[in-house]
Amino acid sequence: MVEKFKIQGGEALKGEVSVSGAKNSVLKLFAASILVKGSTKIYNVPQLTDVNIMLNVLSDLGAKLDYNLEEKSVSIDATDITSITAKYELVSKMRASFTILGALLARCKEAIVALPGGCAIGERRVDFHIKGLEALGAKIKIENGYVHAKASKLVGTDIYLDIPSVGATENLMLAAVTAQGATRIQNAAQEPEILDLANFLNTIGADITGAGTSEIVINGVPRESLHSAEYTTIPDRIEAGTFMAAVVGTKGKAVIRNVYPAHLTFFNDKLIKMGANIKLADPTTIEVSCKSKLNSINFVTQPYPGFPTDLQAIAMTLLTTSNGVGIITESLYENRFMQVPDLRRMGADIHQDRNHAIIKGVKYLTGATVVASDLRAGAALVIAGLMANGETYVEKLHHIDRGYESFEQKLSNLGAKIIRFDDETTVNNIGTNIKGVLNESCL
Ligand code: EPU
Repeated sequence: MVEKFKIQGGEALKGEVSVSGAKNSVLKLFAASILVKGSTKIYNVPQLTDVNIMLNVLSDLGAKLDYNLEEKSVSIDATDITSITAKYELVSKMRASFTILGALLARCKEAIVALPGGCAIGERRVDFHIKGLEALGAKIKIENGYVHAKASKLVGTDIYLDIPSVGATENLMLAAVTAQGATRIQNAAQEPEILDLANFLNTIGADITGAGTSEIVINGVPRESLHSAEYTTIPDRIEAGTFMAAVVGTKGKAVIRNVYPAHLTFFNDKLIKMGANIKLADPTTIEVSCKSKLNSINFVTQPYPGFPTDLQAIAMTLLTTSNGVGIITESLYENRFMQVPDLRRMGADIHQDRNHAIIKGVKYLTGATVVASDLRAGAALVIAGLMANGETYVEKLHHIDRGYESFEQKLSNLGAKIIRFDDETTVNNIGTNIKGVLNESCL
């Protein structure tokens, strides 16, 4: 079954949308849960393909799971971990599952985890993860595509990361929770998801300070002192930014609920410079609107708190019809401009030179058939379709389903004319009847 979105552009998005739990946080909380010889319960879990993959990894290791879709919670009973292997079949589907390495090593003193390999958006090496675990005392061999790590005892130490890698910071935090003595991670990633992981780990009995800054100290605690707990993950800042961009791009007006505005400071600042109105209504609500044509801006993607690479493609879409010329420099990934050829097919004027893109605003985009080449490029093309004149078809929706819960339902609640269909579904009745069609095709 090949699913596509059909989007009728030109509707200003209006209304309210509630942001789901953070994908990039909850996946790591799942990995962390195996440190506890008991049960943990995590709330605000979004329903996503990546969540299912991570739960399969845990289940393969012997954890018992209870996924309550209505409650948006997952209970993980990791009393018995019966395997130390995370298979290639799962890790290759989702790189975030590599974070299980640090947790499994801490829990079982040995872990065999498939190397994730390359990825469409860049090389995405894991050398800092490996070097950091070695510094903690693990003996590591790479054999047959797997990382085989062993450590009868992990010992805390100072680790400096050459790049503030999110995944490496998380893997090392997980490994260090029960290490002997203190581990200090310098030049650590500062993303909100790192702080969320530290808060979760402290809730189950770890002793971590400094998370959310560039220096994190993990004082090792005895493994037996880790205990069961319940925890609610943070809202997804990238999903929130995506909806804000969709509202701004369609000259709409909406209330974004269940969002932490502080997690989007840099992005919000850029949207304001482009001409959007942004009001922080209360600690978890943003009101966003835009009436006039946007102004172009320049930006460089950077680790948090800089401009998030995960919103780069989405911001590029806004620049395609802004006044003037905008320049984007992508500094985190080698190949994260995959949306460019498809945006050009919709009429955008973009010149790309290695990791720089120069976007000259055009009057309007026109609908076309485009392909989601990765999660964020896919979301960027959906927004382009909402802004464009005419009909846009977005293919390869499995990329979008990895990271956006009920994407088309949330967008259509804001008034977007978007429908998911497969080859057997008729799409002629798009428009006034759209909600009825969605109910049938999206469940
Ligand atoms: N890097 C290395 N060596 C390492 C680790 C990273 O060279 O050992 C490089 C990577 O190749 C990359 C850069 O450092 O060029 C940053 O990578 P990082 O480790 O920070 O990213 P990640 O942990 O693999 C997470 C998110 C990404 C997000 C980045 C940056 C998850 C599951 N993924 O990836 O999210 O882009 O941080 O913020 O948390 C997405 O959600 O669409 C997504 C790709």
